[in-house]
Amino acid sequence: MAFSSHSEPLTIIIFGATGDLSRTKLLAALMDLSCSGCLPADTRIVGVARKELTDEEFQAMARKAIDRKAHEHPPERVEEYLARLRYLSGDFTEYEMYPMMAQYLQAQDAERGVCSNKLYYLSVQPSLYEPIFEQLAHSGLSIPCAGVSWVRIAVEKPFGHDSESAAQLDQKLTALFAEEQIFRIDHYLAKEAMENIIVFRFSNALFEPSWNAEHIESVHIRFLEPNGIGSRGNFYEDVGALRDVGQNHLLQMLAFVAMDDPKSLAADAIRAEREKVLGALVPLSPDELASVVKGQYASYRTEADVAEDSTIETYFTLTTHLDLPRWRGVPFVLEAGKGMHEHRIDITIVFKPIDSCIGSKDASDEVRKNRLTFTMQPEESITLTFFAKKRGFSMATEEKTFSFNYAEGTERLRDAYEKLLLDCIRGDQTLFTTGKEVAAAWRYITPILRHWHNREPVIYEDNTPGPAR
Ligand code: BG6
Repeated sequence: MAFSSHSEPLTIIIFGATGDLSRTKLLAALMDLSCSGCLPADTRIVGVARKELTDEEFQAMARKAIDRKAHEHPPERVEEYLARLRYLSGDFTEYEMYPMMAQYLQAQDAERGVCSNKLYYLSVQPSLYEPIFEQLAHSGLSIPCAGVSWVRIAVEKPFGHDSESAAQLDQKLTALFAEEQIFRIDHYLAKEAMENIIVFRFSNALFEPSWNAEHIESVHIRFLEPNGIGSRGNFYEDVGALRDVGQNHLLQMLAFVAMDDPKSLAADAIRAEREKVLGALVPLSPDELASVVKGQYASYRTEADVAEDSTIETYFTLTTHLDLPRWRGVPFVLEAGKGMHEHRIDITIVFKPIDSCIGSKDASDEVRKNRLTFTMQPEESITLTFFAKKRGFSMATEEKTFSFNYAEGTERLRDAYEKLLLDCIRGDQTLFTTGKEVAAAWRYITPILRHWHNREPVIYEDNTPGPAR
């Protein structure tokens, strides 16, 4: 892929620069890009947040955040990166902030004698998106400083709160920014193991012919995390598990598994196939809605910034279907939870058993089914279970596995945020969701949210497999 804008001066403006995502992911991903020479030589990163900090204090905060990653880079490169960081304090909800920011960015450009490309990265509470879009546009910050430069905006999920608010937000965003300026983020799309689903499916003759309802019995998508919500109480109380990971990460995992061959790797082709899958999610019937499990881990209500009587879910499981000939009748089981007994984020394809001369059952009377698992956490890998002859005089079978682990490669495994930030700079939108995808996912999720409104969750003990079913 050509780096058309790669060498031009760049300013990345992080809204919410002192927040959790910025500290745990963005600042480290930018350091990795900077230290491996993937950022334009003249790049500045401006952190923006309400907290009063000097540039030096922000740099110290960034140093602390990236120290946790145990530097893999020469110290001089890390210092070079830290020297790129600047800080601007202000309140995004205040109108005066934006003309002030415009002046600040102009001064930054003037000091360098450039007209830099601008990437605005919104890592803030979703409720702040709308005023930020409006003010960026009204204060002229959405307009490039010269004809050849660009302005782009990257927006974190969840984009909206339900179908209506997402549609309204998208309308606002697309009225103020052109589609090619907009990068809607779902970092799961940029995981090596997710992209590999496409490569694996469409480059191996072995699986694609049986990738359909005739041969696949069910698909299971799990998003189990052992930790609680930590310091994200405010965010989580507003969002809950279904909006946090269901509306986006899990449905995108489903889209990658279920999509048809896009016939090309062009962004439009891949995005159109994902859109087709999400648009084919069959709405849940009233009975199915009633069977969606809503859970909450036992200590959730004692977490910081969480209401004592919160009904927010930290767990859900549901079964969905696709109205596509390839998948008719195949259940897709989605499950996600915090405070679980294990860290396991994966997709398992369960193939139908075959009845042959060997029979369909193994020695312990279990039906033999091949399973193919794409794992994203705790490590990125692929595992296939198959059956082989057990040693001995009989024809008894036993289960064996083929597996492939990304960590075994020699090249450093790139973090999803590195890839996303680099793609924002390159202008490649393949790994970003379209407005249509976001709308289709909300269309599917919103009736569940409505059905759940103020409904008590089932409480499950911390570090267990979730509510008993
Ligand atoms: C984020 C969610 O989008 O993804 C978090 O907001 C979740 O709640 C996280 O923990 C998981 O991402 P990863 O890359 O750490 O598996």
